Amino acid sequence: MNFKIAVIKGDGIGPEIVDEAIKVLNKVGEKYYHNFEFTELLAGGIAIDKTGHNLPEETLEACKKSNAVILGAVGGPKWDSLPGNDRPEKALLGLRKELNLYSNIRPAMMFDVLKDACPLKPELVKGGLDIVIVRELTGGIYFGKKFTKNDYACDYMEYSKYEIERIAHQAFKIAEARNKHVTSVDKANVLETSRLWRKTVAEVSKSYPNVKLDNLYVDNAAMQLVINPKQFDVIVTENMFGDILSDEASMITGSIGMLPSASLGDNNFGMYEPIHGSAPDIAGQGKANPIATILSIAMMLKYTLSLHKEAESIENAVKRALEQGARTADIRKYEEKIITTEEMGNIIAGNIE
Ligand code: IPM
Ligand code: MG
Repeated sequence: MNFKIAVIKGDGIGPEIVDEAIKVLNKVGEKYYHNFEFTELLAGGIAIDKTGHNLPEETLEACKKSNAVILGAVGGPKWDSLPGNDRPEKALLGLRKELNLYSNIRPAMMFDVLKDACPLKPELVKGGLDIVIVRELTGGIYFGKKFTKNDYACDYMEYSKYEIERIAHQAFKIAEARNKHVTSVDKANVLETSRLWRKTVAEVSKSYPNVKLDNLYVDNAAMQLVINPKQFDVIVTENMFGDILSDEASMITGSIGMLPSASLGDNNFGMYEPIHGSAPDIAGQGKANPIATILSIAMMLKYTLSLHKEAESIENAVKRALEQGARTADIRKYEEKIITTEEMGNIIAGNIE
């Protein structure tokens, strides 16, 4: 089959890691007879430098005409002094909003061979960790009315029932295919939006009688993640809580450089990117770990293109590379030889079966 993929490499380590991901995807195409047609587009700091805008109209239009979008990372110190709306990060928010990517799926799984990197006591994560965070991505305080007037600033947090319903359905559907447990996280003891959230999630849960629903306040959830992470299967939460909890969850797996994400809209359209940022301090040096981006490609094959065998071939190729001892600096623990971004990509591409 033929697929059109929009590619936004972005800033910092973005270009290096995306190149390796594309290498792996092309290998999958070769082995399974698919053709991936790539369109390279600008967004973030590099777009500011080249066009004066963080998210050029042309980028948005080309994304809309594609089957899926692959994104590296945006941002860096060079653009840190720009006002909020002009920053590279705003391009990411614009892509999410304009492409209606309301559902952000962030798996936090522990790789068996890397389990020593987990900062928690081994008995807390015995048998591994496998949590999926489903974060609402186009609402809440990120997108409410905001302004600053002299010594006053405000950010409105808003949610409609419809926005909560669609993300709740997504979470329950994912849980149905897993361990059938959804934990909804809110702050319903304080926030009106959270009270609507809790009520709406309870209503949606009635359509999924096989899935157990629990509710936790966000402060408690943050604590539970470090004292008893194995109680979680799928966590569903609003935009900002999801931002914070997904960093926490990814770090307890010990491998933030390894974790992928999908941002989905309707009709399986999606944007795929690693959870980590643009890491400007190591950009261009071949030190970055491309695995999070490569695994994001596997998510793209699964969620948008429905190529499940192909997705599995990538996951297996990554697992095998790790078992073979392939280590970029971020995941090296013992005296393993440190390899470059490109070498990691080559090993994983070579493992595609
Ligand atoms: C993330 C990031 C973004 C967010 C930033 C870069 C705007 O932290 O994807 O988690 O807050 O959503
Ligand atoms: Mg974040």
